Amino acid sequence: MAAEDRIRWDELYQARSTEPYPAPDPLLLTSVPPAPTGLDEPPRALDVAAGRGQNGLWLAEQGYAVDLMDISRVGLLQARAEMTARNLRNVNLLPVDLDEVELGLERYHIICGFRFLKRHLFPQFRRALVVGGRLIYETFNQRYAAIRPPFKPDYLLEIGELAALFSDWTILHYEEDSHVTRLVALKPHPEGQNA
Ligand SMILES: C[S@@+](CC[C@H](N)C(=O)[O-])C[C@H]1O[C@@H](n2cnc3c(N)ncnc32)[C@H](O)[C@@H]1O
Repeated sequence: MAAEDRIRWDELYQARSTEPYPAPDPLLLTSVPPAPTGLDEPPRALDVAAGRGQNGLWLAEQGYAVDLMDISRVGLLQARAEMTARNLRNVNLLPVDLDEVELGLERYHIICGFRFLKRHLFPQFRRALVVGGRLIYETFNQRYAAIRPPFKPDYLLEIGELAALFSDWTILHYEEDSHVTRLVALKPHPEGQNA
């Protein structure tokens, strides 16, 4: 399945290679705090299923050291070309299958994901963010099936699903419109207070 996805997305990004490089998602622009300073290492961010990397590269421009993960090497190559054009160095391009990945423990200050859903990753996001870290997530919900059927239900969030999954976090923004759900949430201290 992952191999099929890689081929499909490689072909799609190849076909789009002459199109202008995409802009970062508006939710990201309004949800990212200034990169914390005074740390031993630069604050880290992760863009999951980054595609051509427009969101992760914008995070790098804000001072985060960014991991871009995607299965499509063609998408990541386009991200590399854009990195070079913008003279960005603090970005790791990681060709990974997110069905297989282990994100680790308390590594990231920001995790963002756009237009991608693998439910098994949500518990990993919870672990992989530092306390006070921020999850910024936006993807299609079940209402989208009415607009663009047939759409695989596995790839669509249920209404209220993300709010329920992160009900023990501080939700800074939650929105479900006619086709997408948007969440911005802070990981709390273990005792329940935010940094
Ligand atoms: C709809 S695109 C979204 C890309 C980007 N987040 C954006 O908003 O432009 C979905 C992305 O998921 C990636 N993808 C699909 N299956 C994957 C997997 N198993 N592991 C890693 N990436 C995957 C595709 O290569 C593609 O870049």
